[in-house]
Amino acid sequence: MVKSPYYLTTPIYYVNDAPHIGHAYTSLACDVLARFLRLDGHTVFFLTGTDEHGQKVEKSASSSGKNPQEFVDEISERFRDLTKLMNFSNDDFIRTTEQRHIIACQELWRRIAANKSPKGRENIYLDTYGGWYSVRDEAFYSESELIIDSEGVRQAPSGALVEWVEEPSYFFRLSDWRDELMAYYRTSTEGIILPESRHNEVVSFVEGELYDLSISRTSFNWGVPVPGDDAHIMYVWLDALANYITAVGFPQENNEKFQTFWPANLHMVGKDILRFHTVYWPAFLMAAGLKPAKRVFAHGWWTNEGQKISKSLGNVIDPNEIVARYGLDQVRYFLMREVPFGNDGDFSHRAMVSRINGELANDFGNLAQRVLSMIGKYCNSVVPTPGELKQSDQELINLAEKLIVKVRKNIVEYHTFHEALSVIWEFVRHSNAYVAEQEPWALSKNDLPRMETVLYLAYEAIRHLAIICQPFMPESCHKMLDQLGVDSEFRQFVDLKWGRKPIAGLTLPPPEPIFPRLEKNI
Ligand code: MSP
Repeated sequence: MVKSPYYLTTPIYYVNDAPHIGHAYTSLACDVLARFLRLDGHTVFFLTGTDEHGQKVEKSASSSGKNPQEFVDEISERFRDLTKLMNFSNDDFIRTTEQRHIIACQELWRRIAANKSPKGRENIYLDTYGGWYSVRDEAFYSESELIIDSEGVRQAPSGALVEWVEEPSYFFRLSDWRDELMAYYRTSTEGIILPESRHNEVVSFVEGELYDLSISRTSFNWGVPVPGDDAHIMYVWLDALANYITAVGFPQENNEKFQTFWPANLHMVGKDILRFHTVYWPAFLMAAGLKPAKRVFAHGWWTNEGQKISKSLGNVIDPNEIVARYGLDQVRYFLMREVPFGNDGDFSHRAMVSRINGELANDFGNLAQRVLSMIGKYCNSVVPTPGELKQSDQELINLAEKLIVKVRKNIVEYHTFHEALSVIWEFVRHSNAYVAEQEPWALSKNDLPRMETVLYLAYEAIRHLAIICQPFMPESCHKMLDQLGVDSEFRQFVDLKWGRKPIAGLTLPPPEPIFPRLEKNI
């Protein structure tokens, strides 16, 4: 059966900073989802990339003595390296300085300008902008949104400094799009904006005062020129958001890629950039006559040992360092397991070691190592043939077969990755308890047929686990499936059926531990 295509995107990363663990997080969640959907038979397009224009980047380039292009080339490469380091399976890596993107942005602008707003007015008009702007957030704020600190300095809600900006600017008539936005949020019963608390946040913003949005700047140059008026460059967020349609071939909407993948199924974002994705972006798209995305999910933020992660605090977690220290799949597992997806969470070395030792080494690693060693020792490394089944065997089989249904719901419908892992681990623990209760080592002395049944069932439980955990820990699961003698063409979710392939009789290689225990003081 051909399953529906799926397009998912991560926010494209600002190139003014080096990648840190928070950046890796958004893309990791997408990677798990992308791998899951592919194993489940879907055609997936998974996009990531870099956001390279704007005042912040221009300033960072000039303070490091480089021209902006040279500067963005260098940092963009570091984000590309991050995708390799983290083993992300993205299908494209877009850069907003690419020609294909500049063409798409300008065409998007032209279409918005050519259409009328729902109230029959120009969607884009020229005026003068006077207001507060934060270069760090690349966002405009109204006076009422600002916080005044103890020294009387104005700050954005994020804590970033703001400056007064006054310049000619094109405006987007956002205020005319309220009804269309509200109608859009109601187009899916499962929710366009998730989690629900974020939906409520957006709805109350849109129901409040929706101001027209300044969408061009004249006081610096590093951006996409406004079509027909070279004195202006586009607001970096309009430029950046358009990457999602550039990558599927816009403005060639009749091509197969655009037809297959637009509207995107999911924009995965951090909570800080929710408004851009759920208010501005759908309004731009509707104004251009295009459909908005089917869903936006906003996840929470990581702190480091209780503190906000920031360059100035010097507590940025370098993904290279933690991957070298703990192992890639261990880091991937921890990030997806530790915190309910959608909530904020805290990174601590203690929590990392505890999850790795408790859940990967003790629970999963031990199960595989013990069972495969017993097959080596008592069965001459040959997968045994099962005999008659008892009730406890049948129970294990039922649980294994139900696992994918629950995991699919959590990953694909709710994006509760932590819950998916928790459901999987219930089965890991059940399998461990099964082996402990059945005592195949004792059966090896007095009941060989029963021992063979038990070891076959335990082998099957591990095969199910190794297949289902692939999206989270691809390399480790591939190694485990190699040790189980499972050919690469039998590692899809359709293979999650008891005894799917007649494996009894297969000779296995000597088992090697896949999730070693860490020393406490690592
Ligand atoms: N360039 C914009 C996105 C444009 S999308 C059209 C941007 N870039 S960013 O590099 O600042 O952030 C990228 C992603 O990383 C965001 O989703 C953001 O929420 C996420 N994170 C940055 N720091 C984070 C944490 N400390 N914790 C979790 N995610 C964090 O925004």
